[in-house]
Amino acid sequence: MRPEDTPVALGCDHAGPALKQALREALEAAGHPTLDMGTHGPESVDYPDFANAVCAAVLDGRARFGVLVCGTGIGISIAANRHPGIRCALVHDATGARLTREHNDANVLALGARMTGVEVALDALRAFLATPFGGGRHERRVRKLTPDWSPRP
Ligand code: RB5
Repeated sequence: MRPEDTPVALGCDHAGPALKQALREALEAAGHPTLDMGTHGPESVDYPDFANAVCAAVLDGRARFGVLVCGTGIGISIAANRHPGIRCALVHDATGARLTREHNDANVLALGARMTGVEVALDALRAFLATPFGGGRHERRVRKLTPDWSPRP
């Protein structure tokens, strides 16, 4: 199985269903399977619950990457980064998405639905998926974040 055949897991709170749906549709149109862990509607929910579900899927290998959305992206990224082994980056554009893959080997992308427009978010997602980890000097630093880190296949 190719790495791209492992799904990308998505999760959001009540601020994020529309952006999550747009990201999901773009992923599927580009041939990336997805695992949508909710939420799906406007009822108020707690963002840590969705960060926890997506991070569990990344950590146990059901998902290759995670994508999280809340209003600002802040709460849900804080929640994700409480999981050892998760390196979640809150980004606001494609440059941040590219650099966090290259430098941090980020495995979860966080976006703020009230901060970042859909086209910019889609560009960020595409950059995140297209950029490999840079290796070299960055490996030592990533190991200081995640001691049992190893390069992904
Ligand atoms: C929900 O209203 C909002 O607090 C949440 O989406 C997020 O922005 C928290 O960081």
